[in-house]
Amino acid sequence: MTLLIRNGEIVTVGSRARGDIFVENEAITRIGRNLEAPAGTEVIDATGKLVFPGFIDPHVHIYLPFMATFAKDTHETASIAALIGGTTTYIEMCCPNRNDDALAGYQLWKAKAEGYSACDYAFHMAVTKFGDETEAQLRQIVADGTASFKIFLAYKNFFGVDDGEMYQTLELAKRLGVIVTAHCEDAELVARLQQKLLAEGKTGPEWHEPSRPESVEAEGTGRFATFLENTGAAGYVVHLSCEKALQAALAAKSRGVRIHVESVLPHFLLDKTFAERPGVDGMKHVMSPPLRAKQNQAVLWNGVATGAIDTVGTDHCPFDTAQKLLGKDSFVNIPNGIPGIEDRVNLLYTFGVKRGRLDLDRFVDAASTRAAKLFGLFPRKGTIAVGSDADLVVYDPEYRGVISAKSQHVNNDYNAFEGLQIEGRPSVVTVRGKVQVRDGKFIGERGRGRFLKREPSHF
Ligand code: URP
Ligand code: ZN
Ligand code: ZN
Repeated sequence: MTLLIRNGEIVTVGSRARGDIFVENEAITRIGRNLEAPAGTEVIDATGKLVFPGFIDPHVHIYLPFMATFAKDTHETASIAALIGGTTTYIEMCCPNRNDDALAGYQLWKAKAEGYSACDYAFHMAVTKFGDETEAQLRQIVADGTASFKIFLAYKNFFGVDDGEMYQTLELAKRLGVIVTAHCEDAELVARLQQKLLAEGKTGPEWHEPSRPESVEAEGTGRFATFLENTGAAGYVVHLSCEKALQAALAAKSRGVRIHVESVLPHFLLDKTFAERPGVDGMKHVMSPPLRAKQNQAVLWNGVATGAIDTVGTDHCPFDTAQKLLGKDSFVNIPNGIPGIEDRVNLLYTFGVKRGRLDLDRFVDAASTRAAKLFGLFPRKGTIAVGSDADLVVYDPEYRGVISAKSQHVNNDYNAFEGLQIEGRPSVVTVRGKVQVRDGKFIGERGRGRFLKREPSHF
């Protein structure tokens, strides 16, 4: 099968030029002007369009037993939503809890994706305890091609690790050359503050943020950085939400700690007043770290623009209205999570590039290339180059639309970004040379996504 994308504005990190892209056997084989194509080639006219490398979401939850329920998506629904939004690869958090067997969990998470995802995928393996068998199991998982770990400093007694376990995980990761991603909120402080607020009769979703204040996230970020510093491991702070935490990460970076930063879509566009809305509306905006005071948003945008924040992911984690109501009597029982897999690229383009907060280069880097580099996918993914997988997004910057739950493909009954106007969307999305999306519709092959094996690269 051959494909020719003709006359688009091809944008990669560090380059922008009009041209054609020719694809054979799932990979890009030629880039140039006025390329000839053999008879039978599928031709896409990209005149007036931008052509981006397929976008990568480095942080999603699809199969997730969590807070007495399960996240709503399957790989079938999430991957179609991702592709419609221009994301051609996602990295799912594989999250067995402390009482589960890690290896059995890993096999389970893989089985949930294989044959169901329409886009390519990989996993970050969560280490939620460190026992006698952990090193051997993690070695097996890394040998299988999952070359990144995840730890949670939050979610005590469920996903959370203690400092000893964090040390053991980082020390092993250093030996294996594996990067460790981390949710950085101090579990003990969160638990104490939750108890205090509940004892004062403060039970609504507006108390979620005060139970996990910025200082708690900054402390977790600083502690993770100190552990990285003393083990020599490479780390990646997930869903960093506020200025204080960014300062902690950057202070560590400036003294040579190998620390990278991700922020996620909700923190750029929504603030804590959304969770302060009465009733279930507030609950729909509960995630951790929480939506913050609005002044943090400018800090995050600036952080992405300068590269201090490496990537923008989603932390996609859908719970519907009925599930959110599990927390109607107490904010500590509201399932934590806000979905965004379908909307990330369009909202980042609209509120980042179109509003002049991000240049195109940084947009592509933060939403695709940097994640590919950090997580061992580059140059197979994250760029447009001869030899790379033909994951391509032909993007229409003239499209105008409105985000709405009514038209979304994510398996949920609301959208936290409801009503936001978008100024651009993918008109064609290919995965390894196959057109999977055209003009907002999935027209491709379900279950075609491939598990991406990755090599350790952080020695
Ligand atoms: O609220 C969130 N972020 N839910 C998903 C689990 C996690 O902490 O990433
Ligand atoms: Zn988290
Ligand atoms: Zn997450």
